[in-house]
Amino acid sequence: MSQAGRTQERLIETYRKKAKHYDVTSRLYPAPGYPQLDQRLRAVGALRLRPGATVVDMACGTGLNFRLLEKVIGPEGRIVGVDLTDAMLARAQDRIEQNGWSNVSLVQADAASFDFPAEVDAILSTYALTQVPECADVIAHGAKALSGGGRWAVLDLKVPGRTPQWLAQLGTATVRPFASIDEWMMRRPWEAIRAAMQEELTDVSWTELFFGTAFLASGSRGPV
Ligand SMILES: C[S@@+](CC[C@H](N)C(=O)[O-])C[C@H]1O[C@@H](n2cnc3c(N)ncnc32)[C@H](O)[C@@H]1O
Repeated sequence: MSQAGRTQERLIETYRKKAKHYDVTSRLYPAPGYPQLDQRLRAVGALRLRPGATVVDMACGTGLNFRLLEKVIGPEGRIVGVDLTDAMLARAQDRIEQNGWSNVSLVQADAASFDFPAEVDAILSTYALTQVPECADVIAHGAKALSGGGRWAVLDLKVPGRTPQWLAQLGTATVRPFASIDEWMMRRPWEAIRAAMQEELTDVSWTELFFGTAFLASGSRGPV
């Protein structure tokens, strides 16, 4: 197996172990008191959704965004949740059933090779895309699948720029155990995401959140 394949296997194993308690433990992510819900709400807001919209939640995990999305798109809308890890999707399926949502479907796939449905209104990815080495390609594939005026929004963690050491550590403490912190910091995937958005979308906005430990990037597909 290639190095990339082994890294992906480790990632899946890590999330299989986390899946059962993810909804509780993720509240402490990346640190107790971190304004995660506020950041999620901002990310959903950046999609400028209307009732009836179709949204892809890329690397949806256990579906923590679903309720926030449902509130805006309503029963006429549609959510497609995509994730690599079977156990995370199993938790997402439980959430769907518990809430009686009939407009959410799940797909087990690698973001890097996912075939986006055509003409989606919006794509969201939260706390996940910097883990995908091909994140720039994912932005590009998604952008091509958006309908005219459709929106892409990515919320994720980053290493703060000019910051005290303790804050840098808060940011890097978030980096997942399956990937080396050094590799993530050196790869600086948030820069690739920003560049890909600027390349593929119009109206791109980039906002640093919580002392630069997270970012919200969003943009629109131009007229098709
Ligand atoms: C930290 S969790 C975030 C889950 C969810 N988006 C949230 O906000 O709670 C990261 C998720 O990304 C998924 N993931 C990582 N790499 C992926 C890939 N290449 N393709 C699809 N999903 C991936 C993992 O399986 C995991 O569920």
